[in-house]
Amino acid sequence: MQQLPKDTPIFVAGHRGLIGSAFLRRFEKDGFTNVLTEGREALDLTDQRAVLEYFQLKRPKVVLLCAARVGGIVENRDHPAEFITENLDIQLSVIKAAYQTGVEKFLFFGSSCMYPRECLQPMQESSLFAGRPEDTSLPYAVAKLAGLITCLSYNAQYGGNRFMVAIPNNAYGPNDDFDPKSSHVLSALIRKFHDAKVGNQKSITLWGTGTPRREFVHADDIVDASLFLLLRAPADLQYPINIGVGEDYSIRELASIVADVIGFGGTIEFDASHPDGSPRKLLDSSRLEELGWAAKIELKAGIRETYEWFLDNREAL
Ligand SMILES: NC(=O)c1ccc[n+]([C@@H]2O[C@H](COP(=O)([O-])OP(=O)(O)OC[C@H]3O[C@@H](n4cnc5c(N)ncnc54)[C@H](OP(=O)(O)O)[C@@H]3O)[C@@H](O)[C@H]2O)c1
Repeated sequence: MQQLPKDTPIFVAGHRGLIGSAFLRRFEKDGFTNVLTEGREALDLTDQRAVLEYFQLKRPKVVLLCAARVGGIVENRDHPAEFITENLDIQLSVIKAAYQTGVEKFLFFGSSCMYPRECLQPMQESSLFAGRPEDTSLPYAVAKLAGLITCLSYNAQYGGNRFMVAIPNNAYGPNDDFDPKSSHVLSALIRKFHDAKVGNQKSITLWGTGTPRREFVHADDIVDASLFLLLRAPADLQYPINIGVGEDYSIRELASIVADVIGFGGTIEFDASHPDGSPRKLLDSSRLEELGWAAKIELKAGIRETYEWFLDNREAL
């Protein structure tokens, strides 16, 4: 697919989420006129029959599957059954409906949690399945690995390389989840440092040693990379493909960037009695870079923009 007419029917599944909403912003900016969205109250994506009927009615040509059960370490720990069941259900119903109704291009998002806990760094796509993923997110990771193999199997049996799989590293940006119970590390830090500043706290204590290293990709960059793949990837590109920025930060470094953006002047302590998770999770994105794509949003600028969005929307969060 070398070009995308502006009236192409594109279904963004999960359009209210972090990455789905970034697709919507981009499509609006680029003047697309036929972007299909449906809230979960109208279309529960775990419902295979409803999803098939929706596809038969709307006939999307491009599907971006941004709907999933997503959450931080606590959510994953407390809801393992829901994480595996909902993710398997959503991806199977949407992939099957896409195949049955002749969708031309389909994008499934994996996650860096799919990689083995003890993985050579930076993590290359060839390391998938080389070991057991981190236990805390195993149900989510296994669902994502199943989604990957489902897509590859449909490509292998039915041809066309239609089912694309991208693995972005930790995403952030407007519309992120700022709920302390379910949020990921970066949005959790933004909320925590904001509350500390407003509450005139002299110090903040963060869980863990502060030494684990993580990579962060702005949702707008994930969208940009996805559209690059959709429009410019060679027809025989091997999936999955990593989407990263090629640089990681320790949690300590990240906390100090967030503190700086927010204007928190107190001290930052670490409580090492809490677990750290994987020591490092940096993606090797050289395959995507070799195709000609590079991230554009620098971390501090992206955090600043995300914090502005948080300030504008915090009443509703
Ligand atoms: N966030 C990350 O750091 C990250 C990193 C790598 C990969 N990914 C992957 O990228 C994709 C998008 O992630 P995200 O962070 O944008 O997720 P998100 O912000 O949590 O959004 C997920 C969306 O899915 C929708 N959804 C969930 N279950 C549904 C159901 N049964 N029926 C209909 N809609 C449903 C939610 O709807 P409601 O708005 O109604 O809740 C929400 O809009 C996911 O596949 C995720 O695994 C995310």
